Amino acid sequence: MEHTELNKKLFGDDFAWGVSTAAFQTEGACDADGKGRSIWDEFTSRKGKIKNGENALIACAFYHNYRQDIDLIKQMNIPNFRFSISWTRVLPDGDGAINQQGIDHYHRVIDYCLEQGIEPWLTIYHWDLPQKLEAQGGWTNRKVIDWFTNFTVICAQNFGDKVKHWMVMNEPGVFTGAGYFLGVHAPGRTGLRNFLPAIHYTVLSMVSGAKKLRELLPGAVIGTTFSCSHIEPYSQKTKDIGAAVRVDALLNRLFIEPILGLGYPTEVSALNGISKYKQPGDEANMVFDFDFIGIQNYTREIVRFSLFTPYVYARQVKAAERNVPTTLMGWEVHPPAIYEMLKKFSTYNPAKPVYITENGVAFEDELTDEGVNDIHRTEYLQTHIGQVLRAKQEGVNVKGYFIWTLTDNFEWAEGYHPRFGLIYIDFATQRRVIKNSGKWYGEFLK
Ligand code: NOJ
Repeated sequence: MEHTELNKKLFGDDFAWGVSTAAFQTEGACDADGKGRSIWDEFTSRKGKIKNGENALIACAFYHNYRQDIDLIKQMNIPNFRFSISWTRVLPDGDGAINQQGIDHYHRVIDYCLEQGIEPWLTIYHWDLPQKLEAQGGWTNRKVIDWFTNFTVICAQNFGDKVKHWMVMNEPGVFTGAGYFLGVHAPGRTGLRNFLPAIHYTVLSMVSGAKKLRELLPGAVIGTTFSCSHIEPYSQKTKDIGAAVRVDALLNRLFIEPILGLGYPTEVSALNGISKYKQPGDEANMVFDFDFIGIQNYTREIVRFSLFTPYVYARQVKAAERNVPTTLMGWEVHPPAIYEMLKKFSTYNPAKPVYITENGVAFEDELTDEGVNDIHRTEYLQTHIGQVLRAKQEGVNVKGYFIWTLTDNFEWAEGYHPRFGLIYIDFATQRRVIKNSGKWYGEFLK
C-alpha cells in the first residue's frame, strides 16, 4: 500500500485512533501531593542504572501540564488518549491508606479529557510498583495478587463511571524480564528465582484484577497489553529454527497463552520451573476472557542458535550487524513485523479483538526555527499503519491503533535521548512543539 493512498476511511468509522503515554515517563512531580515512592523512583536514584545518570523527577511535568498536553491532543484531532495511573499517587505505600489527592488528580485529568471530547483509556499498571511492596518481594511475593487486586478495585470504584476502556497491565514480559531477570529495569533483580515467580504472580494478578473490573464495571471494555516482536531464524538450519521457536515462546507467547487457557509455553525448559510456584486452583485463575488484547510492536528480531545464552540457547543478530535501517534504540525498521504480529495473534482460537496499543519510533530530531521536520517518523508511522490495514483487509479483527507517544519523555534505562514523541519537548524550558509527524497525524485524522 502506497502511503499516498492511506486514508482513515479505509479503516471504518469505529476504528479507534489514539496516542499512548505512561505515568512514570511523563508526570514528574515525583513526591507531589502525597505521592509515595515507586521502584522506578528508587532505581533511577541508583548510580549507573540510567544512561547519563538521568532521572524522571521532572520528566515532562505532565502532572502539572496535563491541560496543555490534552489541548495538544485535541489540536492533533486524536480522539483517544491512553495513559496510566501511578499506583503510589493513589496508594503511597502500595497498600493501606488511600491518598485522596492522588485520586483527585486523576479525576481532573479524566474530566479534562472528557470535556475536550477525548476518550480516556486507562492502564492500571505501567511498571511503577510501590517501593514499599518491592521491599516485601514485589512481584516475587504471592501477596502481590492481593495488593494489585486492591489497587485495581480502588481504580474501578473511583474512575469506573467515567472510563470505559481499561488495560490491566502494560507489557508484563518486559517488566518481569528486564526487571526481574536481566536486572536492567527496576527493581534490578536477576535470575530465574526472581523471574519465574514474578511471571506466575503477574499472570494471576492480571487475571484477578480483570475479574474485579468485570464484576464492578459490567459495561467496561477490558483488555491488557503485550509486547511482541516478529521472530525469524537467521538461517533455515534446524538449530536456528529451534532458537527462533524458543525466543518466540519467551517474547510473544509467555503471557497470552496462559490467559487463553493454553498454559505456559514449554519450549524453553527453564520455564517449566514455574510449576514450583503453582498452587492448587491456580490453573483456573490464570484464565480470563479479555474483551481485547493490546499488541505493542516496534520491530522484528533475527535470532540464531547460541550455546552461550543459558536457558534459551539463542542470540539476537543485532540490526547493526545486518546492515539494515535502524532507530535510535538500535531496532530494525521493518514495517511487515506489525502485520505478522496481527496475523499471529489472530490465529488463537478463539481470537480476541486486538488493538495496536503502541507503535512508534525514536529518531534523532532537530528543533529549528521551522519546527521539527521528522520525515522518517512520519514515514515509519505511515508504513506501519499501512501494514495494519493490510492485516485488517485480510480479516484480522484489529480495532484500533495508538501511537507511542504523545511527547518526548523518559525512556526508562535509556533516559531522554530516544525521542519517541509526536511533540518535541525542550526539557530545559518544557516548551512543546508539534513535530511534522504530529501535524501529519492530525491531518490524517481530520
Ligand atoms: C514499550 C513501553 O510500554 C513504553 O513504556 C516504552 O517507552 C516504549 N515501548 C518504547 O520503548
